[in-house]
Amino acid sequence: MSALRPTPLCEQLGVRYPIFGFSHSPDVIVALARAGGFGVLGLARELPEHVPALLTELETKLAGLPYGIDLMLPQHVPEQSDLRTLRAGLPEQHVAFVRGLEDRFNLAAPTQPSFFTSQVRSEALFRQQTEWVLESRAALVATAIGLRPELISRAHAAGKLTASLVGSVRHAQKARAMGVQVLVAQGYDAGGHTGPIGTMSLLPQIVACAPDAPVLGAGGIATGGQIVACLAMGAQGAWLGTLWMAAEENHTPPNLLKRLVAGRSEDTLITRAHSGKPCRVIRSPWIDAWEESHAPAPLGMPEQQALTGQAFASMHEYDDAQTIYEAAGQSVFAIHGATTVQDQVAQLVIEAEKALAALAG
Ligand SMILES: Cc1cc2nc3c(=O)[nH]c(=O)nc-3n(C[C@H](O)[C@H](O)[C@H](O)COP(=O)(O)O)c2cc1C
Repeated sequence: MSALRPTPLCEQLGVRYPIFGFSHSPDVIVALARAGGFGVLGLARELPEHVPALLTELETKLAGLPYGIDLMLPQHVPEQSDLRTLRAGLPEQHVAFVRGLEDRFNLAAPTQPSFFTSQVRSEALFRQQTEWVLESRAALVATAIGLRPELISRAHAAGKLTASLVGSVRHAQKARAMGVQVLVAQGYDAGGHTGPIGTMSLLPQIVACAPDAPVLGAGGIATGGQIVACLAMGAQGAWLGTLWMAAEENHTPPNLLKRLVAGRSEDTLITRAHSGKPCRVIRSPWIDAWEESHAPAPLGMPEQQALTGQAFASMHEYDDAQTIYEAAGQSVFAIHGATTVQDQVAQLVIEAEKALAALAG
């Protein structure tokens, strides 16, 4: 038996290792489950019409292995919204700036259907996503950016564990007051939307403020030693995101993978240019252009994504070597080339066992 033992949360979920992985790729979720970890599928970028078939296929491949689903539910989004109307109301200065960038970088119009070119985050979309999650076999429902009391109580009634990504003690207390069971303490180091507190400082504070709740550490974590550090700080596991982008199961566009391999922790930065909310990404000339002195301040969420969604979809569809970027954490330091989830989990476990042995003297 591995020295990296299952924690009570692992036992509750039926997984071997305290390794939790967030990904937008169903293939990563399946590979994580087969490797003994717990995968959580992000639905925030899926076209609504694709979700039911996607979940059916995922559950078939999982063949009973446990998994979770993550929804991004920001507050203050429109009740119903269509992208065309939202786009028509965007400030002219911003539209002209983005047109200029698309010309400067020679970005072709995307042709494939994608969330970024056809959807707007709205209450109507969130209601639809909620129903799918509740109907699914997911053992855990995680939410980020916003909390919805109705989703939490209905998930509990359906026998699902609830989790929330939190970036401060205040967030954690709010989530607990609404009944959220598992807290993911996600620090400033993380890929994606983050707050200002680093993982190493955040995690012990969240553990202390919610002594009865299982807590997971997230943000900047990509080695087994860091997983052991999370356990030492009172967490029941670590939640990793960026690392899986190196796995073939993530289907990362080759030029993005090159950028991640070349990227160091200091090549990630927090910007509002991606979504309108502070989000850590791997920098590219597209992101740098938003830092130039004549650039307008990014709009809010969901307007910024309505403004830049075409460009983001184009970079990814054509794997544009110059502009392509993605959410990525300081953990990018551990991406050295293409690999598989199975090899990544095996390496994390070996590193964790070594760290535990070193600590035991
Ligand atoms: C490409 C990418 C997309 C992400 N999208 C989401 C998301 O939709 N919902 C969410 O809760 N977290 C999202 N995250 C954050 C992860 O859940 C996780 O907290 C983070 O990746 C941990 O930090 P790390 O990237 O340093 O491992 C995303 C992260 C990455 C790298």
